Amino acid sequence: MVRIAPSILAADFARLGAEIDSIREGKADWLHFDVMDGLFVPNLSIGLPVLESVRRYTDMFLDVHLMIREPGRYVERFCEAGADLVCIHAEADAEEGIRAALREIRRLGKKAGLALKPGTAWDAALPFIEDVDLILVMTVEPGFGGQSFMADQLEKIRAIRALLKERGLRCELEVDGGINAETAPLAVEAGADVLVAGSAVFGKSDRRAAIAALRGNL
Ligand code: DX5
Ligand code: ZN
Repeated sequence: MVRIAPSILAADFARLGAEIDSIREGKADWLHFDVMDGLFVPNLSIGLPVLESVRRYTDMFLDVHLMIREPGRYVERFCEAGADLVCIHAEADAEEGIRAALREIRRLGKKAGLALKPGTAWDAALPFIEDVDLILVMTVEPGFGGQSFMADQLEKIRAIRALLKERGLRCELEVDGGINAETAPLAVEAGADVLVAGSAVFGKSDRRAAIAALRGNL
């Protein structure tokens, strides 16, 4: 069954504990945590102190999406702060820097993820395929919640699913951006097994119904 990872970027940060309770009770699988540095993307969000607080508050699986330049500078601190999975962008550093950061995440006992922006071809993941537990296909330009799903990314999701199947890899395939009850089935049909959703969950008052709708149980 597909996993649902609500993005707390769309939550009310003044009530973060209650927001986390609501998605946990609503049967979310993971909590998606978006980190931005104002350089890799033209926006800032949350970082290490908030992750530490969230880690103390919940035992939910924390899926940390780093939208930061040269992520190798920070992966150790995000692992120590309580991430279960740290996902870095293929575009955020030279190939050697990305490979070293992915290997460091795994060495620290966490899952390593590689994210691809919409303009990045599927085969940018190839050099790292043995070093990752998850590939994240962005279906919006990273930086902001509430944007529309880019259907032209479905082909990339299919290509990566085909690659994983062909090589017999257990790597997960996550899709992030513009996921709602209409677009979720498209991503799943193309091969996604983890769906990130910000506004489609935190923008709705009934979190359980919102999460169920993403799974297709309307
Ligand atoms: C965007 C973030 C997303 C964002 C998704 O840069 O990576 O995780 O929170 O928000 P929605 O689901 O509203 O597109
Ligand atoms: Zn994200």
